[in-house]
Amino acid sequence: MSFEEARKQLSSGRRMSPREYQFLSSFVDGGICVDIGAWMGFSTRAIVSSFKREGIVLAIDPHSLDCAGKHRAAVEKLGLSSTRPFLEANLAEWEIASRVVVIEGRSQDIGRELDLRVDLLVVDGSHRYADVVEDIEVWVPKVRGYALFHDYQHIPGATKAVDELMMPHYKLVGKQGWLVAFECKGEVALSFDEYLKALNRVVMSTKRTAFHTQEAARQAEIASVQALLVSYHALRGLEPCKLD
Ligand SMILES: C[S@@+](CC[C@H](N)C(=O)[O-])C[C@H]1O[C@@H](n2cnc3c(N)ncnc32)[C@H](O)[C@@H]1O
Repeated sequence: MSFEEARKQLSSGRRMSPREYQFLSSFVDGGICVDIGAWMGFSTRAIVSSFKREGIVLAIDPHSLDCAGKHRAAVEKLGLSSTRPFLEANLAEWEIASRVVVIEGRSQDIGRELDLRVDLLVVDGSHRYADVVEDIEVWVPKVRGYALFHDYQHIPGATKAVDELMMPHYKLVGKQGWLVAFECKGEVALSFDEYLKALNRVVMSTKRTAFHTQEAARQAEIASVQALLVSYHALRGLEPCKLD
């Protein structure tokens, strides 16, 4: 099987329904969006194509052979140890690569490392109860906007975690199919001091600046991710993205 045939096969399953993508799109504004369980990029594309202002998607997935399921053999036969090249080929074909930072790893680990305030969170990664609990603990406090969870009332682990940790504390703002949306106002978000420290840590890796006011921090948040994106694209030999 060729790479292109395998890409087609991998891209044909494991998706949300058209109505669910439409529902997801209705929560998109712009800013920093996090797509947990990006797989072949369909949820990522739904976000990017609905941006109303500057925005980027951090597309997180382990891309491991263990997560490839029934496609494992096809991926291995091509001599690949990761499904990431298929995602990257899809993003390139859809001409949205400049709006996406592909992050390979478990969302639970990435969330602990990357302290950015998030405008939109989509959780459709591991559906094991313990992993969804961890995603909620690690990511939801960063969200000032909306957090969406897929496979609610479909997969028991996701359902239990959402029932226990989201339903009692956050405002449910909609449901379509197995996708539920909550409004998150950052009530349990990092304090401003912690946020500044976290933001400065991220920015340090790209350029040395310190922020002293909330407005400066907000502005810098986009700038820092933009800088991250520029270096990411330079590393991968892609066209630099433009968020202005
Ligand atoms: C149902 S698919 C996601 C489909 C995708 N959101 C879409 O709409 O096309 C679930 C994905 O979660 C990923 N995944 C599994 N464990 C994960 C983890 N700990 N962190 C992030 N993603 C994970 C899998 O590799 C798989 O690609």
